[in-house]
Amino acid sequence: MPQQYEHVLSSSDGPVGIVTLNRPRQLNALARPLMTELVDALEAHDADTAIRAIVVTGGPQVFAAGADIKEMADASAADMLVRNTIGLWDRARKVTKPLIAAVAGYALGGGCELAMLCDIIIAAENARFGQPEINIGLIPGAGGTQRLTRLVGKSVAAEMILTGRMLGPEEAFQRGLVARVVPQELIVEEAIRFGKEVARRAPVSVRLAKEAITRAFEGRVDDGIEFERKAFYLLFATQDAHEGMHAFIDKRDPTYEGR
Ligand code: CAA
Repeated sequence: MPQQYEHVLSSSDGPVGIVTLNRPRQLNALARPLMTELVDALEAHDADTAIRAIVVTGGPQVFAAGADIKEMADASAADMLVRNTIGLWDRARKVTKPLIAAVAGYALGGGCELAMLCDIIIAAENARFGQPEINIGLIPGAGGTQRLTRLVGKSVAAEMILTGRMLGPEEAFQRGLVARVVPQELIVEEAIRFGKEVARRAPVSVRLAKEAITRAFEGRVDDGIEFERKAFYLLFATQDAHEGMHAFIDKRDPTYEGR
């Protein structure tokens, strides 16, 4: 029996876990109770051995319009520090399975940051990415200055973060923020399809590849390269790597066991 949540829906389609943000009237603003459930749902899928990839989505209308401004409007710096809602995001970063953001409509502020925390972003034709915190006297707080800058380059990131300019799906694709653009009504379906593609691959390879990519992106490049080389050698300790290499040589499909 899947766990029931109030602000997110958690389900699965075969080997793909799906977590859907479900506060549509507030454009999925990332209030603390929603973030808590989101992270709980991600961790539950991560712990489920039948799940190989996880889609994070708000459905075909809106991804998320950012942190909940109403929740923060009267908070002092001390309140924010003690609440430390963004600390919850560290748990999402520790999820070991690939996270696929399926973004339709607005992905603003924390919404854009949530998408960028995922390993890959698939965008619908109505997607809008932005870090408009500057417009309400803030700056991105959940990694936006770091990840957006690395993803789209310094000048475009500065333009977006300093003015709140949004990117549509085509520009987001050209700049490397998203991997592909799909019709709005197919956004979740396409993300699940991608998740199933990943699920056919050797689980331990996928896990280490995800970690290596994250290190390349978030750490110093030489750290990432060193980790990648070690991970590559380590995979030779798995049966799956040998099965995969032999299946290639024998011209047959591999059977992976996650060992
Ligand atoms: N927080 C709380 N409520 C929000 C919200 C948010 N981030 N975004 C939208 N809502 C609410 C609105 O208040 C409104 O609620 P009511 O009906 O109760 O008034 C409802 O969602 C619908 O929103 P709008 O009427 O504004 O819809 P719109 O279509 O006219 O505009 C929008 C859409 C351009 C996305 C606009 O809602 C908007 O600008 N939202 C705020 C975007 C933003 O500034 N995000 C950054 C937040 S700070 C942050 O994220 C910090 C961080 O890095 C972690």
